[in-house]
Amino acid sequence: MEQNSQKTRSPKNADSYRRQRIRNITQNFFLHIHAPRVHPHSMKLTTTFGLGVILVFLFLIMILTGVLLMLHYTPSVADAYNSVKDIVHVVPGGRIIRNIHRLASHAMVIVVFLHLLRTFYTGAYLGGRQLNWVFGVVMFVLVLLMSFSGYLLPWDQLSYWAVTIGSNIAASARELTDLLGITSFIDAGGFFQQLLIGDEKVGQTALTRFFMLHVVFLPLALIVLSALHFWRIRKDGGLSRPVAKELKEQEKWYAWPVLMWTELGIFIAVVALLLFLSFFIEAPLLEAANPSHPENPAKSPWYFLGIQELVSYSAFMGGLVVPVLFMWFLFSIPYKDREDQYIGQWFSGSVGLRLTVRSAVFAIVVVLLQLLVLVKYGGIRDWFPGISQWFVMLLNPATFTVVVFIVYAMIVRSRTGSTRMSAIALFTAAIVALIIFTVIGIWFRVENWEFGLI
Ligand code: HEM
Repeated sequence: MEQNSQKTRSPKNADSYRRQRIRNITQNFFLHIHAPRVHPHSMKLTTTFGLGVILVFLFLIMILTGVLLMLHYTPSVADAYNSVKDIVHVVPGGRIIRNIHRLASHAMVIVVFLHLLRTFYTGAYLGGRQLNWVFGVVMFVLVLLMSFSGYLLPWDQLSYWAVTIGSNIAASARELTDLLGITSFIDAGGFFQQLLIGDEKVGQTALTRFFMLHVVFLPLALIVLSALHFWRIRKDGGLSRPVAKELKEQEKWYAWPVLMWTELGIFIAVVALLLFLSFFIEAPLLEAANPSHPENPAKSPWYFLGIQELVSYSAFMGGLVVPVLFMWFLFSIPYKDREDQYIGQWFSGSVGLRLTVRSAVFAIVVVLLQLLVLVKYGGIRDWFPGISQWFVMLLNPATFTVVVFIVYAMIVRSRTGSTRMSAIALFTAAIVALIIFTVIGIWFRVENWEFGLI
């Protein structure tokens, strides 16, 4: 019937009618994801810095370039390295596609971290948004795992030893079970290592497992969680904003076309930047993996080097207790702090900003002082060579930092009477310490994991 009516239109009218229909369909698709109206506060650059949207585009670019790479990649120990070499040197455009894929994956890790900071410091988990924060924390872990699982695929020296270190970190619980003398009965560390790499050593089982995780399970999980994340934003009434800035529905802006153009602009900028950088920054490819020739120092991927640094003090504390406490803290933030009056305000105002700066300085002093002592005078084992491993496990910078930070947050809580302020204090201190330990791991650890400048 509709087609009949189209037949009776003049060619000019039919043309504009077709264009109108296409526009309606596109708008509907766009408006499926976005609410029809958007609060002007959400459109301000300083509200989100576009970080969530950048993440979406990076993920799409990763899927697209990943599918192209998969056309030539072979996930077997015998062929993986050569297939990547072919992608770089033989397949037309392969080098650029691989560079973009690698750059986008590092960018995703950095941007998801920044997005986490922005949502925390603007109190975006308040006002009934707890669930979306929890989805976000899971997505944060998924992004790290996506990047880590891709790390092994080239099967070169860098990837092999980075993943070997990662799998050793997974076995961190062994320090405790060894001390208790129960590893032969309960080997939790070995269980986690087996779960990750499927064997005692990184080999074909690990490669198959990482490949399947990287190309199927983790992307699917991230797609499902992204859908839930966006659904929650719609359900929660759009992005968070200060209570004083609430508007009536008809005072808000139409999402179409202003938001569409903004997002298109961000998309073009992300693609252009990645394309530009991919001509200058080469994705590394060392010699083929050689399990009998370890790299020295063998380092995990850079985003796990903070943990590797802590593991070098104590495997159990650094590789298990501290990461578990940190994740538990992240998940619990919106359930401990419900001071909704601070929603949508950067740093919860000037008091929170001052506390953020103070907590950052405090963390820098606490961590750097300990590192200074370590570099100049060594650790507890150097002072008392015969000391029991129990003391080494309990008295080290990883344990000390955690205890000091928790006490600090408790003091802030009792002085201010505010859960938001103590969350800001603990979050800031933990993030600053994580950054410092990561920087140390990247640039200040040389052969045999000694201190030095790379
Ligand atoms: C791949 C990972 C992620 C993607 C693709 C993603 C995407 C987005 C997008 C597009 C938005 C709306 C725009 C914006 O706020 O920039 C958003 C909002 C939000 N995200 Fe994420 N996000 C991810 C990870 C995270 C993480 C790690 C957290 C924190 C733990 C998080 C927590 C939130 C919250 C609470 C909001 C609502 C913000 C508000 O109401 O102001 N997200 N996310």
